Amino acid sequence: MRTLCLLLILFPAFAGAEEAAQNSPLAEGKQRFETHCGICHSLALPKSQRLDRATWKWVIDDMVNEFGAVWLTAEDQRLILEYVVKHYGPE
Ligand code: HEC
Repeated sequence: MRTLCLLLILFPAFAGAEEAAQNSPLAEGKQRFETHCGICHSLALPKSQRLDRATWKWVIDDMVNEFGAVWLTAEDQRLILEYVVKHYGPE
């Protein structure tokens, strides 16, 4: 568990550092998405989806409430939602 915590703290430094440097909400969302959404399954799983906002909201809720991603704060969830809606939307 301690190792996991350490990884969670250190990993954002590497994930999407370039975009995060711009410090925009979408860059933050990308960073959090890449940090958290590939822990239990490959990032390829969410990246393979094309979902609308309501469905993404539901998926993220599910990750937290059904599958145990309970460390994600409301802020994490909000920023990740904005990012996936933009990049993995229906189009
Ligand atoms: C705590 C572990 C965990 C984390 C963290 C996690 N997921 Fe999942 N996710 C799962 C599990 C378990 C499944 C497989 C469910 C199944 O087999 O039906 C899954 C499945 C999915 C699916 C496939 C659709 C579905 O509902 O089965 C998508 C899309 C997805 N996750 C997106 C995400 C995103 C986006 C994040 C980041 C917010 C995330 N996951 C973080 C555990 C996790």
